[in-house]
Amino acid sequence: MIAVRALSKNFTTDRGIVEVLKEVDLDIRAGERIAVVGASGAGKTTLMHLLGGLDRPSSGSVLFAEKDIFQYSAQELDAFRNRSIGFVFQFHQLLPEFTALENVMMPALIARSTKKEAEVMAGEILTAVGLDHRLDHKPGQLSGGEQQRVAMARSLVMSPKLLLADEPTGNLDSGTSDGILALLDRLHDERNLTIVVVTHSEKVAARMDRVVRMTDGRLDP
Ligand SMILES: Nc1ncnc2c1ncn2[C@@H]1O[C@H](COP(=O)(O)OP(=O)(O)O)[C@@H](O)[C@H]1O
Ligand SMILES: [Mg+2]
Repeated sequence: MIAVRALSKNFTTDRGIVEVLKEVDLDIRAGERIAVVGASGAGKTTLMHLLGGLDRPSSGSVLFAEKDIFQYSAQELDAFRNRSIGFVFQFHQLLPEFTALENVMMPALIARSTKKEAEVMAGEILTAVGLDHRLDHKPGQLSGGEQQRVAMARSLVMSPKLLLADEPTGNLDSGTSDGILALLDRLHDERNLTIVVVTHSEKVAARMDRVVRMTDGRLDP
């Protein structure tokens, strides 16, 4: 489904050029669940950003169904990302002024769904993550686990094929993070969702199909 080929990323800083990713190769099958583990600063978040087309590489490619996403124009890449990829971050990045329902409607509205359609889609996925009783709550009125479930619902409202989660449970207590993990299991089983999750937790990693380890910008063989 996804082929990462010789993917490299350099950043230019005051102290010169930093090589953050060094010729990373990775193949991801449809429906596969992969954990990415490694020390802080190893390049995990940078890899996730490139996998999701949030940033462009210095060299190399990311192929989805044999198409290099970095050959798309900025506009095409935005549209592709909106429809094909869901993101969940450690800090949920929900918009504080908007309700759970409105936050989850956002990707659908960006994709030009009508307000009514977006409401239906958002209501369904919020129900699926067990938050049908919290539709009108703003993020500040929700617990940490509920906020993360709203973020997950937002990432899934467009029915993406790939979910990229960067330390999604890093901020949660273990009971709450178990709930998030159970939800990931269910989404995988029901939708054949492909999942790449960055985690520091051995417990999270053990629940995935495969664990890849990153050291200093490279994936361990
Ligand atoms: N925009 C940037 N500019 C310069 N350096 C960066 C930038 N983003 C990340 N880095 C550096 O790249 C390295 C890897 O960062 P990151 O991918 O966030 O690692 P991880 O998620 O594994 O902790 C770090 O040394 C970080 O300081
Ligand atoms: Mg990181």
